[in-house]
Amino acid sequence: MSDDFPLALTYDDVLLVPRRSGITSRRAVDTSTLLTPRIPLAIPIVSANMDTVTESAMAIALARMGGIGIIHRFLPIARQVAEVAAVKRSEAWVIDQPWTLAPTATVGEARERMAAHGVGGLPVVETDGRLVGLVTTRDLLFAPDPAAPVATRMTPRERLVTAPAHTDLESARALLDRHRLEKLPLVDASGRLAGLITTKDIVASLRFPHATKDDRGRLRVGAAIGVVGDYLERAAALVEAGADVLVLDIAHGHAEHALRAIAAVRRRLGEIDLIAGNVATAEGARDLADAGADAVKVGVGPGSICITRLVAGVGVPQLTAVLDCARALEGRGVPLIADGGIRRSGDIVKALAAGAATVMLGNLLAGTTESPGVTIRRGGGKYKVTRGMASVEAAMHRQAREDPERGWAEWEDDLAEVVPEGVEAAVPYRGDASEVIVQLVGGLRSGLSYCNARTLAELRANARFVRITEAGRVESGAHDVEAL
Ligand code: XMP
Repeated sequence: MSDDFPLALTYDDVLLVPRRSGITSRRAVDTSTLLTPRIPLAIPIVSANMDTVTESAMAIALARMGGIGIIHRFLPIARQVAEVAAVKRSEAWVIDQPWTLAPTATVGEARERMAAHGVGGLPVVETDGRLVGLVTTRDLLFAPDPAAPVATRMTPRERLVTAPAHTDLESARALLDRHRLEKLPLVDASGRLAGLITTKDIVASLRFPHATKDDRGRLRVGAAIGVVGDYLERAAALVEAGADVLVLDIAHGHAEHALRAIAAVRRRLGEIDLIAGNVATAEGARDLADAGADAVKVGVGPGSICITRLVAGVGVPQLTAVLDCARALEGRGVPLIADGGIRRSGDIVKALAAGAATVMLGNLLAGTTESPGVTIRRGGGKYKVTRGMASVEAAMHRQAREDPERGWAEWEDDLAEVVPEGVEAAVPYRGDASEVIVQLVGGLRSGLSYCNARTLAELRANARFVRITEAGRVESGAHDVEAL
């Protein structure tokens, strides 16, 4: 052992020095970045793969704002897959598998089917998938005989405006406008239904111009996997459901079994986007990148609900961890995700200046409407509950889900073996995720303009940190006033 201990710092130990700046408005800065080399984001914010932070509601909110959510892995495979599918379905402007009707269906059945699925029209198809017409609520409004075949009321194929299977957004919009249509069926070369575009979905998709979307206009979403048990089966099912990126996530990512798991996922699923973590050292970052990770997640022990550093005595203060890992990844085209310990927008600016491409947030999003779990009232305030994924409470929850029949005595025996590295805690309710994100991105934009940076790359290049003392830290917050 060497007794040459280097100093390691975290966000509160430093400040960024203001630079002469030509930036006149916060709006003049560009916050875009990369999650992985193939997944651009308009804002560098990722929601944590924790069971009190990210399921589909959070992932949808984040992707609409230009970030991305990672669905946690503490769910049975089918339920995690359903969460991914809910995000992918939420805002597509092309419906890949629209609900349909057979030409022999009756008017009454068509009405029922439309009401049940909450849609205003159904393509009518033969059993071999050939499109033969389209029926809408308007066609059925005054139809007197519910037993009549729907074919007698539909717009038949020869009078229907359709478009080829791979029509892009602009052409679809032009066609819908030219013919004043509500719905545009897509057909392949042999006349089979290949999708449906509706004006409603196009309008919805234009509400969030910076949303993180795939090339079919669907919101992007990530999903976490582990490194043992059914992780390969889980990974395959998530990719099949449309997950845009997998996050192979364990507390100590610089472990032989994590490196082997990266290789195994690659072998099984090929060129998917794969993030791996967590590490806190240059060697860890390098090894994950060498093993095939497209991005590396950095943070051992900085999380708000995390007690790894107390329990195991291990960790690296987060700013130093990010700086070291960023230097190790320099020039490799492997973006870095700074995970944990972000308490305010200034920390985001510091993490990005230190070399992170994105930050992962747990605590700051755990108190929002979209996080899983209920809002509770305590002493006049509103709160939500969050917990470390290595806490006793998370372990209990997982066991209860896996084996609901189990008795308390068996539980107690098992839980006595658990050495928790996380805690459960209440966080103040903060409103909708979008409100929190607007504040955080506003702060980030401000930070960029102080550093004369129009982009995150310029921020990193221009950044000059100073270390501060405890007196400097006190001076940095509101002081000598009574909080109202
Ligand atoms: P924040 O500070 O944003 O951090 O709440 C979220 C990150 O904390 C990590 N995490 C844990 N770390 N024990 C740990 O040592 C835990 O039980 C635990 N649960 C979550 C994780 O990296 C998350 O993104």
